[in-house]
Amino acid sequence: MSIRPIKRIIEAQPTVEGAGVRLRRAFGFGDTTEFDPFLLLDDFRNDDPSAYRAGFPWHPHRGIETITYVLAGTVNHGDSLGNSGALGAGDVQWMTAGRGILHQEMPKGDEAGRMHGFQLWANLPSSLKMTTPRYQDVAAVDIPEITDDDGTSVRVVCGTFWGKTGPVDGIAAEPRYLDVRVPAGKRRTLPVATSRHAFAYIFEGSGTFRDASDPRAVKTDQDGTESYSFTGNRSLVLFDNGDEVVVQAGPEGIRFLLVSGKPLREPVAWHGPIVMNTNAELRQAYDELQSGTFIQEP
Ligand code: CO
Repeated sequence: MSIRPIKRIIEAQPTVEGAGVRLRRAFGFGDTTEFDPFLLLDDFRNDDPSAYRAGFPWHPHRGIETITYVLAGTVNHGDSLGNSGALGAGDVQWMTAGRGILHQEMPKGDEAGRMHGFQLWANLPSSLKMTTPRYQDVAAVDIPEITDDDGTSVRVVCGTFWGKTGPVDGIAAEPRYLDVRVPAGKRRTLPVATSRHAFAYIFEGSGTFRDASDPRAVKTDQDGTESYSFTGNRSLVLFDNGDEVVVQAGPEGIRFLLVSGKPLREPVAWHGPIVMNTNAELRQAYDELQSGTFIQEP
């Protein structure tokens, strides 16, 4: 087994999206090659309704999948195919935009005014960019949660972990999407297949991930204890190659998303919510939006 060194630690940056939602972006737009097949991760946790109330009114998507994971509050959604519903705490929506949808996503806080959640974008391979749009709405109760002897617990949204397989299926990039909690002071080794790009996004507590690549970041004391790179809330750890990651939870424990996927290694032509392989395909999408032919009847 080889521990994945840390390539980089990134702090999520304040960004305004939709009709004026103030969120934090961990990555997205620009060069996202190191995250391939993932394109973007937004953290839309906020306790102030004026920061998210405007929501994400009607907008198109083509060529990607969007994965919304709600922790608190609700997201009301509707789309051009006639689907509508609400995602609540613990629920996940995996939307395969394929050849095109128009949808809106409107966040609503809980009683305390909190709206917490994440949106991840995954790229589709060229063979599936124009596939039939598909939604997988997953209720919190249908997401398997495994708790280990030391109190570490893992919710498996997608992919297989510790023998449990998440409810989301048929996704081209075979992503694995886990919500991991490690209790205070515990150290855990978590397997991540070598062929994948992988990152962790910390959203509660703090801890350290082993960084074997940077000699300044791994210090071995006289008694043999190793120190690691420290990470806290809203930091993203991008891992280099290896087949496992090692995390040491801080005094309040640590909770993070652990996401990995097989890189597509295809050209990316990206404008706004539409991601294709060539500029010609991108132009075609925007021409269709203008002429009203973007959405095709099923
Ligand atoms: Co959207």
